[in-house]
Parts: sequence; structure tokens; C-alpha cells
Amino acid sequence: MDTGTTMRAANDVMAPNDLSSWWMPFTANRAFKQNPRMIVGAKDMHYTTPDGRQVIDGIAGLWSCNAGHARDPIVAAIQRQAAELDYSPAFQFGHPHGFAAAARIAQMAPGDLDHVFFTNSGSEAIDTALKIALAYWNVSGQGQKTRLIGRERGYHGVGFGGISVGGIVSNRKFFGTLLAGVDHMPHTYSREHQAFTKGEPDWGAHLADDLERIVALHDASTIAAVVVEPMAGSTGVLPPPKGYLKRLREICDKHGILLVFDEVISGFGRLGFAFAAERYGVVPDMITFAKAVNSGTVPMGGVIVRSHVHDAFMKGPEHVIELFHGYTYSGHPLACAAALATLDVYRDENLFERVRTLEPIWADAMMSLRELPNVLDIRTVGLVGAIDLASREDGVGKRAFEAMDRAFREHDVVIRITADTIALTPPLIISEDQIGEIVDKVGRVIRAVA
Ligand SMILES: Cc1ncc(COP(=O)(O)O)c(C=O)c1O
Repeated sequence: MDTGTTMRAANDVMAPNDLSSWWMPFTANRAFKQNPRMIVGAKDMHYTTPDGRQVIDGIAGLWSCNAGHARDPIVAAIQRQAAELDYSPAFQFGHPHGFAAAARIAQMAPGDLDHVFFTNSGSEAIDTALKIALAYWNVSGQGQKTRLIGRERGYHGVGFGGISVGGIVSNRKFFGTLLAGVDHMPHTYSREHQAFTKGEPDWGAHLADDLERIVALHDASTIAAVVVEPMAGSTGVLPPPKGYLKRLREICDKHGILLVFDEVISGFGRLGFAFAAERYGVVPDMITFAKAVNSGTVPMGGVIVRSHVHDAFMKGPEHVIELFHGYTYSGHPLACAAALATLDVYRDENLFERVRTLEPIWADAMMSLRELPNVLDIRTVGLVGAIDLASREDGVGKRAFEAMDRAFREHDVVIRITADTIALTPPLIISEDQIGEIVDKVGRVIRAVA
């Protein structure tokens, strides 16, 4: 046994001596590098730290590892695929697992959302959907329909398209003028009307009517698409008001505007269904997905497209590329193999139904924190929850940052924060006891940062 090599490899991971080279994403780099939160292993509901602590995952990776970590069938599928076909050209050539994965995903989507364009991330999925929307009107003889409508507090990744239709100020303000011709609807959150709501709030469907104001301003003949997250996630979990998404669909239909649901977070079970579109009984023209499609194991995203949109491109000489768009790793064999294995796990373990069963238990557990110090609001939907904490006088985000840090170091739980909001989105395999454990730990963290 070559213990020398094994030991050296382990030590490299456990005691890195240079943290400066990796400029980490969406991370307070200087604070991290002074006091790293390092993770070296994961299995099912837990991470392992270099000193051997088991830390419960309260956020499924980054809303991605819905089947839990390092699940045997998914690991085996990736290993098999790497040995069998590591890569084949994504342009002008295909491989069986790409077609199988696309068919499985299309089958899970409602209505005639029947075609899948693969990307490698949610950001690429959104930029792809926006490009398909623009090109769709172009090939349909209405190339003047170029405006894109997003929403305040929306998060659609970090590409220029995504930050343009997105509505999170810090993600936009450093990056110039962004895409031209973008407008935004108001976000749907009102603490006054919605505080401590379980599920979709009663108040707020009328906010969809703001789309009529935007149409009146620009005229529908200039508007290509509206893009929203069915449940706004990264801004701090804003479930849609009852009836809001149906109203958006009606207004888009009335004016001939494409509706895109960004389901990068809400897809694959997070809200108890394959897609939030199903939960809300609304069929958008496109759905973007990523993350949980293969439980976060291999980078993968995509856009599911309705037939009339797809078919509009399928004309002209047959040797000509219909859509001049794609990525070297679109439909990567490893990602597709991982997706097929993951979708089997979701099906075989009834994980989406499981979310529907757990939803009321989760909501009650989350709401038990409402009397704790500095808690301003708690929102829950599906297996998602958020807790707004009052900001400290010396800076927005400081209380939650300390909470995230202490949760990991002192309470063995990983939580996610945005500004002073804590978000919790555990793997769908979570047990009732583990719900209690996470909520109990988060309660202790909230007291610790009072
Ligand atoms: C709704 C939504 N869209 C897009 C993205 C971007 O995905 P990625 O980080 O894979 O580019 C995210 C990421 O959290 C998201 O929540």
C-alpha cells in the first residue's frame, strides 16, 4: 500500500500553505483566507472538515445537491462514463446519453416544453434563453421585438444578460451599462403584508399588472420576453404571491410576449415538483435549469423550450446550423450520465413527493424561530426557508456573516446568507430529525449573534 502518496495527498488538502492564488467567487476573500472554512469530504447530508468534524448541509451545496452528497449510483455513473466516453465534440456530433438526458428532462417538464438546449451553468442557461427569445422573434419576422423584461431583486446568474435582467444592485452596479433595452417589474415582497407567511402569500398578485404599465410604455411590438424566477431565491427567498404567475402568463399571452421561468433553483424537486411551473399550473415558453439536474455533481445547465419556439428555427437549407449558439461542453457526457443517474434517484426515492410531505413539518419548524432576537420575518415554501435578521448598526450583512461563520465553526451546520437574511435549502433526503437538528442549530446561532 502506498501510504506515502495517500498521506501526501491528504496533507495537501488538509493543510494548504498558500491560499492566495484562488480568487474565490462571491466570497469575502480576505476574511476567508485569514480564517478559512475548509471542506474536504461529503456524504449524504454531511460535510467533513479537515479536523474530522461532520457538518450538516443546510443548503444542499448551493441549492444543488438535492439527492444528497456522493450518492453511490451517481458516483458510479460518472466513473463509468469517464472510462467509456470522456468527451466527444458537442458540435455536429452526438452521444446517446445526451439524447437520453434531454428526453428525460423534457418528459418531466409540463405541456409541450419538449426540447432541451444544454449549457454548463445557470448563468449560461439564462443567457441562452435570452438569445433564443431574441432569435425566435428574428426568425419569425418580428426582429423589432428586442426588449427584455426582468424583475427587481431577481437573480439570473452573472453573465451580462443575466445581470441585465436581474435586479440585485451589487451584481449590477460595478459592471457598466449592461444590456440596452431592459426594463424591470417590481419585486413581490412586502413585509407589511406578508410577514411570517408559510407558502405563497395572499397579497401581491396585483403586482403582475405592472407588466401592463411596461407594455404601455414600450409597446408590445418591441418586447421579446419576460424572465422571472417563479420563486426568487438568491435575493432571500420570495415565494410568488398566489395567482401572480398565472396573471403574468395571461398578460404575456395577451401581448405576444415570451415568458421564461428561471428554475435554476426551483427545478428538480425543491418546491415538491419537477418544476415550479407544475406547482403553479403555468406553462412558460422556456424553463432554465442547472444545479440539481445532476445533484450538483458535474457542471450542467440548460433551457427547456416549447415546440413552437423550437420549430420556428427548423426551416431553411438542412445543412445550415439553425441556432448559432452553443458551448464546447454543452451536453458533456459526464454531466449527462450524472443527470440520468440523479433523475433515477429522484424517481426511485420519491424525493419530490417527499418534499410535499415534509413541507408543513419544515414550515412549522422554521416558524418556531420567530420569537428569537432580531428575527424580522420568516418565509417558507417547499423545502426552502429564509429568516430576515435585523441589521447591526455598524453595517448591513455583519450579523448574518457572523451567523454563517459561527454556524460552520461552532454549530456544525452550513447555512447561506444574503445581506442579513439566512437561507436554508437542505438536500431532499433530509429526515424529520435532521430538520429538527438544523432548525435547533440555527436557533442557537441566532441567539449567539444577538
Ligand atoms: C435563479 C438562478 N438563476 C441563475 C443562477 C446562476 O447559476 P450558475 O451559478 O450555475 O451560473 C442561479 C444561481 O444560484 C440562480 O439561483
